[in-house]
Amino acid sequence: MQPKLKSKVRCADQEVGDVTKIIMDPLTREISHLVVSLNGAGERQVAIGLVQAVTDEVVQLRSSASEVSALPPFKRDEYVTLHEVEIPHIEDHLHVSPGEVLVPFPELEKSVKRRTFFANLTHVIGLFIGLPLAFPVLKYLMKPMYAPFDNGWLKIGNIGKIKADDAGTQFKFKRKVKEAYLPEAEIEKNVWILKATPAVLEKVYQGKDMEFRDGTGKTIWTNKKDVPYIAFSGKCPHLGCGFKWRQHKVLGQVFLCPCHLSIYDAAGTVLDGPAPRPLDPLPIQVSASGEVQIIDMEFKAGTKSQTRIV
Ligand code: FES
Repeated sequence: MQPKLKSKVRCADQEVGDVTKIIMDPLTREISHLVVSLNGAGERQVAIGLVQAVTDEVVQLRSSASEVSALPPFKRDEYVTLHEVEIPHIEDHLHVSPGEVLVPFPELEKSVKRRTFFANLTHVIGLFIGLPLAFPVLKYLMKPMYAPFDNGWLKIGNIGKIKADDAGTQFKFKRKVKEAYLPEAEIEKNVWILKATPAVLEKVYQGKDMEFRDGTGKTIWTNKKDVPYIAFSGKCPHLGCGFKWRQHKVLGQVFLCPCHLSIYDAAGTVLDGPAPRPLDPLPIQVSASGEVQIIDMEFKAGTKSQTRIV
């Protein structure tokens, strides 16, 4: 008779627990061990050779209780259930009640685990060897992402060009740009300059000087609220199109963006259209001789808040 799961296990001197699992030898397809739970003192793996007799209810062992408890604890992770392995007809000779019947963890799987471990180890070693070599390349590739903004002043013309107060006047200028890994190129850009009356100045500055900061938060320039010259970036904050100073039938003179018809007043305030924020003022200074200089900045289009990108 084969031992049954849940059978009581009795030693030569006393009862020690019950059978919780049965281990099969996948080659002989016979039971090789019983796993005995020692009344709350852990599980022990008992070789079938120690079984003296088996009845319906009891498995009688030849050993004493102290010998059984001295056996090494059962290591569940060295076994898999019959359902986890596909060994044909393995249960044919097994007549135990349904329950946890185990076979040793297949050697092949163990070596796969070992192979995976060594493969991972090789990757880690490769990473340590390769990192110092790859670092300069990565640094070069990532450099444009972390390059500081160019905060140099650009001369763009003379205020003599401005013919009226609160009227947008376009100033074109050329700027050298370096796009990521491409060679440096010169591009044409433009800004709009106004000689603003106090009412427009108040609308733009709202009684406060306007500070401009670099990427680290350090102030690079402050537009004074009572200096009448205002510069607006030439890109519409909606999606970055160029806009014009135009006569509107109802609103009078306005900045008009032809792309999606955003309309701004002389202070850059949005009067109509999809623009999410007012025009972007830029740092400006005007010399005693009337030369206008700006710091060229660009901001992310389509957002309510102003985020510098150039
Ligand atoms: S880009 Fe100016 S309104 Fe859309």
